[in-house]
Amino acid sequence: TTHTITVEPVGREVECDEDQTILDACLRAGVWLPHSCTHGTCATCKVDKLDGEVDLGEASSFALMDFERDEGKLLTCCARPRGDVTIEADLDVDEDMEVHPVEDYTGTVVVLEDIAQDTKRLVVELDREVGFNAGQYMKFTVPGADGAEPCDRTWSIGSPPGESSRLEFHIRNVPGGRGTDGWVFSTLATGDEVRLSGPYGRFVLKTGDDKHAILVGGGTGVAPLKSMVRHALEAGEYEGDLTLYAGGRTRAHLYDVDVFRALADEYDEFTYRPCLSDETPEQVEADGEDPDDYAFGMVTDVIEADHAKLSGCRGYLCGPPQMVDAALKTLMSRRLFPRDIFREDFFDES
Ligand code: FES
Repeated sequence: TTHTITVEPVGREVECDEDQTILDACLRAGVWLPHSCTHGTCATCKVDKLDGEVDLGEASSFALMDFERDEGKLLTCCARPRGDVTIEADLDVDEDMEVHPVEDYTGTVVVLEDIAQDTKRLVVELDREVGFNAGQYMKFTVPGADGAEPCDRTWSIGSPPGESSRLEFHIRNVPGGRGTDGWVFSTLATGDEVRLSGPYGRFVLKTGDDKHAILVGGGTGVAPLKSMVRHALEAGEYEGDLTLYAGGRTRAHLYDVDVFRALADEYDEFTYRPCLSDETPEQVEADGEDPDDYAFGMVTDVIEADHAKLSGCRGYLCGPPQMVDAALKTLMSRRLFPRDIFREDFFDES
């Protein structure tokens, strides 16, 4: 059974299956709705229901509180229609942002390699081109082992939109994680076929912007930032300067250092700051490397030392929530307005 979802204030109508979420139906129809986690925890997709009946699905009790349920709010990533439904969403979308409808793809694993401690690069060749904005992510179907149901895992695209049928992902192992420990880091191999859908997410580079972009990534949080940096530089899709702060405990935790150094050599507008929180200049020097090639301390310490003021810049933060929160505070203390700071949190559930 399908029902009609009417999205106000734009008045768009979308057909939605009874077992499909409202978000999925809209994104597949090319109707943008705000979203981030896509599984009921972040509350980004909360909207007002103006009319109709829904099954609220697996919305968590903190993302959608009881009183909000009473007020008729719902999470579009969890809610499924039980009749025709009208919702009103705060679309809050950057007008320049191109909306790429979500579609299903089949891909072949062409690269699966270790790039840092507990971190792999996965490159997938798709059956056809996919349109996306730099910074967005894809959802993989993780096959169920030993009779278990398949499940979904999401990873940010690390390659730029110009490479539209060959997508790169950076994946950190989470002990016991079904998608990582139980799949990418164990049974998955080159030549395997994978199923994925996308693109998802609203953490995207504002192309055409001329503000200095301060990009801060912890661990594999560098992935969407790499897509943004390469898109900005190689496709000339950004007017302003870009500075990437990539944080890791030691050099063994950082990856693609040479790639970013080469980009910084080639493009004057790009600065790369690899930050080591658990190593000293002496340790780096003892290994025959130049300590001047690194910054020492947490990314937040390094940013504070680098900049007395960041007003007029834009922040792009991606990584574990504690790092993102700390970086947000640092940027705000340097006079960046919250509205100019975009964040993507990576949770350890993989
Ligand atoms: Fe995060 Fe719906 S709760 S996107």
